[in-house]
Order: sequence, then C-alpha cells, then structure tokens
Amino acid sequence: MIFEEVAVGGCRSYLVGCQESCAGVLIDPEISQVDRYRGLAARDGLAVRFIIDTHTHADHFSAARQMGEAMNAAVVMNRRSPAPYVDMRLDDGDMLLIGKMRMQAIHTPGHTDDSMCLLVEDHLFTGDTLLIGGTGRTDLPTGNPGALYDSLFSRLLTLDPALNVHPAHEYQGRSGTTIGREIIDNPRLRTRDRAAFVQMMGELNLSAPTHLTEALRVNMTGKKAVSQLLAEAAATVPFISLDELARVLERGDDDLVVLDVRERDAFEAGHVPGARWLPRGQLELRVNEAFPDPTVRILTCCEYGKISTLAAATLRSLGFMRAVALDGGMKAWREGGYPVE
Ligand SMILES: [Fe+2]
Repeated sequence: MIFEEVAVGGCRSYLVGCQESCAGVLIDPEISQVDRYRGLAARDGLAVRFIIDTHTHADHFSAARQMGEAMNAAVVMNRRSPAPYVDMRLDDGDMLLIGKMRMQAIHTPGHTDDSMCLLVEDHLFTGDTLLIGGTGRTDLPTGNPGALYDSLFSRLLTLDPALNVHPAHEYQGRSGTTIGREIIDNPRLRTRDRAAFVQMMGELNLSAPTHLTEALRVNMTGKKAVSQLLAEAAATVPFISLDELARVLERGDDDLVVLDVRERDAFEAGHVPGARWLPRGQLELRVNEAFPDPTVRILTCCEYGKISTLAAATLRSLGFMRAVALDGGMKAWREGGYPVE
C-alpha cells in the first residue's frame, strides 16, 4: 500500500494508494495543502479516485471540493453530511474499491453525526472519533457524547487490536499507534461506564476552535474561506515591495499612480506622498472617470495589504493590465519609517 501522511498544524490528512493499480484516495484534505497533495500524488504515480472527508470539520477548511475538481475524483462523505457538493454518500458498511484495495466505511457518530472511520487492510483512519491519547470533542454542532461512547466501545475498540490508527488530528507530533495501544494508554478510554463517559465529555470545557463559524460555512457549502479568496486574488496580480515604492518615489517616477483604497479618515490621517484616493467601496463606481487611460500603471495600497490585493485584482479584471498591489500596507509603511503626508 502506498501511504503518505501530511501534517499541518494539528491536522492530519492521508494519501493512500494501491501499489498494483496506482489508484488512490485522499482523506481529509486541508485547504492550505492543495499543491502538496497534487505533488505527492504525482510523485507516487497515483490517480486519485476518491476524496473523502471523515466528517464535517468545524476547525479547519476542507479542500475536498477543490481537490475533487482538480483531480477529477469523486467527493465522498457520510450519508448524513450536509455538504451539497458530495458526489457519493456512504452508509455504514459501504465499501469503496480503490484498485485492488477495499476501503470500508464505519459510521461512528459522536464527534459529529456524520463521522465515519475508514478501514483498509490493517489501517484504520479514525477521523476525530479516536485520536492518539484522546477522542474528538462532542460539544460542537451535532456532537453527542453518548453516541461517541457507543461508536468507540461497541465499534472501534472491538476491532483487531493490531490495526494501525490514523487520526485526523494530532497536536503533539506523535504517530504510529494501534487500537490495542489506545485501549491501554488512552486516558479517555479508561472511563468504561457510559454515563460517566458522557459526564466526563460534558465537563471538558474546551474553548471554541478558531474560525468555527467560517469553517462550518465553508465546509457545509463548498464555497470559499476569506484566506482563499485573498490567495486567489494574489495569484492574479504582481506586487511591489515597500522598498521598491520608496525608491520609485525618490526617483520622482511619474509613471506610477499610487491609489489609496482606504476610507477617507484613514487616508486623511496619512498616506503615501502623492497618492490618489478612491475607496474600495466606490472603486467600480468611479474608476472610469478616475482613470480614463487603461494603460496607466496603478499601485493599490490599503492598511494591511489585503483589500489592496482585491482592488488590484478587480482593476486587472476590468482591463487595467498594469495594476499592481503593494506587498504590505500603510501600517507596515508607517512602521518602516517611510515618508507619509
Ligand atoms: Fe473534527
């Protein structure tokens, strides 16, 4: 079996393939790693057939939809998953053929209602149902501690103790555990009584994950995270560094128009010398009168360098083919001691 583990932050995703046929499956892809997955699949000579999310993630952004499109692969989730972009929904016990390999879905509700684990040969991908030395939390939407207890004690822990366990999260860099080792070492699994387990899960008092609402919005619709929107805009425009802009100003180069797209107050409080002002909210409305010459070289700037990227991308899409964005914003410009008027 071809096996790749991708760790980013506390998230783990897996690329698994059949050695004989080179068919593959990608499990729990995360949005910041889309290029890595494609690179790994190419390096290993894998044709990825299925993209599987083990559940609706609430703490990171799923790349399932994007990878499904990029790799021409079917997006697979549990029958109860709300995401509309899922191509194939699995019931408990359903199996996927990946070349010569058989991958079976085990419905394990608890962390979420749509959680499932994936069993292939001697490997078990446990999503957030069973973690190394822990379990998934049950206090997020559709979580249910009683269901988690049943999924663990009546399903997962009854499987072959020699099965290798691969969770969707690991925060301490550990890997290489088995069902048998978790039964012995995992402190959460010491509470054998169902009611006591439910009470323990209820008393964890975990803080909400960052980006909770945005992650749910993105993962339940297949639409974009703000960071993705910005990254896509950034891929369509060139940038100019703060230093380079300072040199241009010093030379008195009048080819470049600095366009400040912040609100009026921010602009009036201090801007790049000679900058013109057109707030982002009025850009499309006033751009024709402001820039009758489409060959003008416009450099957009804002406070943090993000809205200016969107503005430059908008200008490029409107036909201002020399629009560029400042790599950084007015905050960095001021803090860097560059001239302000
Ligand atoms: Fe999760």
